[in-house]
Amino acid sequence: MYLVSLILNLLILAPWHMSANAYIWPSQYDILEDAYVLSSGFGSDGTVDEVTPCSATPAGNSPGRQNTAEWLRTAYHDMATYNSATGLGGLDGSIQFETDRPENIGTAMNTTVQFFGPLQSKRSSFADRLALGVVLAIKNCGGPTIPFRPGRIDATEAGAPGVPQPEQSLETHVAAFARQGFNMTEMIGLVACGHTVGGVHEVDFPQTVHGAITTPDNPEGVVHFDDSFDVYDNHIAVQYIDGTNTDPLVVGFNTTTNSDARIFSADGNRTMQSFAADPNFFLSRCGSLLERMLNTVPAGVALGDVIEPLEVKPHQLRLFFDNTGGLTLSGDIRIFGTTSIAAAADPADMPVTLVWTDRNGGKNSNYSTTATWDDFMAATSLWGAVQLFSISTPIDPATGISSFVVDWAYNSQLPLTTSDNGGSGFPLQDVVLFQRTGSCHGTVDQNSTVNAVIRNDMGDVTSAYIEYTHSATQIGSMALKQVTIRADFVHVGNSTSPFYDTYTTSFLSNDGFLTLNADIVSFDLFAVVGGKTYSSLDNPQLFTGC
Ligand code: HEM
Ligand SMILES: *[C@@H]1O[C@H](CO)[C@@H](O)[C@H](O)[C@H]1NC(C)=O
Ligand SMILES: *[C@@H]1O[C@H](CO)[C@@H](O)[C@H](O)[C@H]1NC(C)=O
Ligand SMILES: *[C@@H]1O[C@H](CO)[C@@H](O)[C@H](O)[C@H]1NC(C)=O
Ligand SMILES: *[C@@H]1O[C@H](CO)[C@@H](O)[C@H](O)[C@H]1NC(C)=O
Ligand SMILES: *[C@@H]1O[C@H](CO)[C@@H](O)[C@H](O)[C@H]1NC(C)=O
Ligand SMILES: *[C@@H]1O[C@H](CO)[C@@H](O)[C@H](O)[C@H]1NC(C)=O
Ligand SMILES: *[C@@H]1O[C@H](CO)[C@@H](O)[C@H](O)[C@H]1NC(C)=O
Repeated sequence: MYLVSLILNLLILAPWHMSANAYIWPSQYDILEDAYVLSSGFGSDGTVDEVTPCSATPAGNSPGRQNTAEWLRTAYHDMATYNSATGLGGLDGSIQFETDRPENIGTAMNTTVQFFGPLQSKRSSFADRLALGVVLAIKNCGGPTIPFRPGRIDATEAGAPGVPQPEQSLETHVAAFARQGFNMTEMIGLVACGHTVGGVHEVDFPQTVHGAITTPDNPEGVVHFDDSFDVYDNHIAVQYIDGTNTDPLVVGFNTTTNSDARIFSADGNRTMQSFAADPNFFLSRCGSLLERMLNTVPAGVALGDVIEPLEVKPHQLRLFFDNTGGLTLSGDIRIFGTTSIAAAADPADMPVTLVWTDRNGGKNSNYSTTATWDDFMAATSLWGAVQLFSISTPIDPATGISSFVVDWAYNSQLPLTTSDNGGSGFPLQDVVLFQRTGSCHGTVDQNSTVNAVIRNDMGDVTSAYIEYTHSATQIGSMALKQVTIRADFVHVGNSTSPFYDTYTTSFLSNDGFLTLNADIVSFDLFAVVGGKTYSSLDNPQLFTGC
């Protein structure tokens, strides 16, 4: 009995929860993996552009502010309420409900929350977006590579307070960091790793900074922590040790708020001396301390494995049922590499071919399509060279598809490499598919209709439903919550293909059709056919009105 349930569990958990150390497509973290890899250009979501250059001000906001610094401070303030004894708090997005607290003074937190809101989705929480934003922004400023693990879960309400404030004593700060899980040496490091970008704003801390407001250049009166606020480097330590320091929390006129002075000297300056002496030591220490900061999550939240860019990965690849009874496979293939050959590659000269296997495991020389590149598909990555290639090919429903591999090379002179997703190919099911024809999005208070087709030759369809997820506003926060509607499909009849029957479902979503939120809608289709579950995940937003 125990063995049976163990085996059942293994079956149910596969493949998303298999921790074989290899990231296998598809994964619940595909969207975040793409966001990690695609920094700018085609396919990127704008996160890195928002912090480029490193001095960049949040779009539409006053000069003097620095987005990278605001994201890092927001992430620390979200984490700083963690209680290692109870396991409550940590990086859980609760900051979105805590912006009115004195310990979170300023508009920075809401600006940050507002930026990441439109990037939230069923498979990318606000907390994951914020953590990833910090990882990308720090790398983009010349800082360390901070390993990124996905899987943070957003809080639905405010947590306990507990962010350190500059007028508090050293003992209070040591105790606060101990509660957060960091000892005194680590506290010194973490504060220096934070206070190397950005600065103190006079509008928020008039008791610490005077006379810095020089409208219009610096309307918030920012005084930077060091002379290289827009480079992630050890100058905060170099200047502290050599006495040329400008950090308003070290040499500020108000001794009470000179918390950095108390913290940096708490171990007789040993940590700061080691940082000042070795820029690489500073970077590696900051990499590991910030990694721990970002991975401090509520007890019970299990983070996924560190995301390493996949070499070859489908990007928004989808199989659709079209109104002539055929199937169309369309989307992109992404190729990533860190070698000099990868960096030198001209995508126009890269052969990329998708070769598929039919639904019965059969192969045929006709089962292949060439991917193409165009100027508009140019993309960059902070971590290496990345290229995307588009494909669009009919698939004969009689033979269908079950998986594919990609044959490719960095130029036409090189031998082809076959990428097979860790051995068994990239799986693709053709059993339950979205049907564009007749599917439409309702306006306010009007139902939406989604049509699907399901194979009619594979046994009984015992269950078929849609999970339609959209973002919704919530009181007291500029971040969005995810709402999932589940609706059952009903069988309609035959379709334009002898292999598929048509199903339909109708439901009310009121998700802000054609507004800002519209592009973060996605829907998954599920069907249990002949006792097996098939799913078509992450279908794109419906733009056809009913
Ligand atoms: C005892 C602990 C800490 C205290 C008392 C403290 C205090 C402050 C204060 C007063 C400011 C000015 C904020 C403003 O003007 O809007 C500031 C800014 C900042 N803090 Fe901290 N901080 C602490 C720890 C940290 C840590 C651990 C990090 C991150 C690892 C961090 C990251 C930042 C950043 C990036 C800024 C610049 C924000 C900007 O330029 O908009 N701080 N901090
Ligand atoms: C803090 O922990 C580190 C390990 O991360 C250790 O090397 C260091 O000695 C500890 N410092 C104190 C003050 O306990
Ligand atoms: C120094 O800071 C403390 C704490 O914020 C404040 O109470 C005091 O008024 C400040 N002193 C001056 C001279 O601004
Ligand atoms: C630590 O460094 C600061 C700034 O350079 C200096 O003022 C202070 O005297 C030093 N403290 C110790 C214990 O060396
Ligand atoms: C490939 O397709 C062509 C055109 O439909 C057909 O004539 C040919 O027999 C097919 N080749 C194989 C190996 O099935
Ligand atoms: C941030 O936005 C929320 C939601 O709109 C609002 O309730 C809160 O007052 C804002 N906080 C600040 C500091 O403006
Ligand atoms: C679908 O059903 C209709 C009416 O039952 C029939 O006339 C038509 O031939 C069927 N189409 C297919 C593709 O089987
Ligand atoms: C709208 O959807 C709901 C829920 O699926 C359903 O009960 C209702 O009949 C639908 N209304 C219309 C007018 O189709």
